[in-house]
Amino acid sequence: MKKYLVIGNPIKHSLSPLVHNYWMNKHNLFNSIYEKRKIEEKDLKDIVKEIRDNELVGVNVTVPFKKLIIPFLDKLDFTAERTESVNTILKIKNKVVGYNTDRAGFALTIEELFPESNDGTISTVLQGKSIFILGAGGVTSSIIDALEQGGSKVFLSNRTKKKAEDLKKRYTKIEVLDWGKRPLVCDVVINTTSIGLTKDERIDIDFDDCKGDKNKLFYDLIYNPKETNFLKEARLRENITMNGQQMFLNQAKHAFNLWTKITPEIDDGVIKLLD
Ligand code: ATR
Repeated sequence: MKKYLVIGNPIKHSLSPLVHNYWMNKHNLFNSIYEKRKIEEKDLKDIVKEIRDNELVGVNVTVPFKKLIIPFLDKLDFTAERTESVNTILKIKNKVVGYNTDRAGFALTIEELFPESNDGTISTVLQGKSIFILGAGGVTSSIIDALEQGGSKVFLSNRTKKKAEDLKKRYTKIEVLDWGKRPLVCDVVINTTSIGLTKDERIDIDFDDCKGDKNKLFYDLIYNPKETNFLKEARLRENITMNGQQMFLNQAKHAFNLWTKITPEIDDGVIKLLD
């Protein structure tokens, strides 16, 4: 049996097993199975050993281990190195290698959202736009890394300002704002915080001036619940809204491809699984 795993803490709500097992079945990989495992930081070393010993073929990493896993790996791909964030692991020629598919998952999602207005790259889609990112958690560096290649102005704000300032050391062009403040003009606002995972939580920043503007995008990386207050308020203002489902599926698609060399389809069946 080829075993795959997603590790995190908490992990109960992860939908990765549903998605990957669906694709494994669809592509007749009947000797493969994908499971979830709640781990503690002290277990990271053993997980990497399991990959080294071929007991695990592939591993996805989620909160809060995307950075913490790095010291145990033999090698990182370029994106994982730049973002200091690993969400996919596999063994290549006896080396346990960490990849980051979040960045590509995000970039592809933005490109898919504006298919008519670009030549296929996130850079042209977001050219000249003012982008405001809320939060500086595990996945935020992947978002900034994708945006940094584009010709957009990126603002970043996090409750714990130091975490935003640490990101600025690597991504020098971004501008850090105090929590609660916002840029005067925001064309795209991306929530990477966990505010909204619980239904009644809301982000206390006023975007009333965006009312009726159908070109402004409010993007929440949260996909469960499907519509956070952040997105509900944007929908009521008639802005474009997008939750994290497509990015989740796109990062999973890239990971599946790294492990199996198969590019799975995001079909109705897989989307239905997430409903
Ligand atoms: P981690 O920080 O361990 O990577 P995460 O879930 O990836 O965990 O990130 C949580 C993000 O949501 C952080 O940006 C966090 O802000 P802090 O860095 O200040 O902790 C943010 N966050 C969570 N709850 C919040 C709240 N009530 N108000 C403001 N920001 C919050």
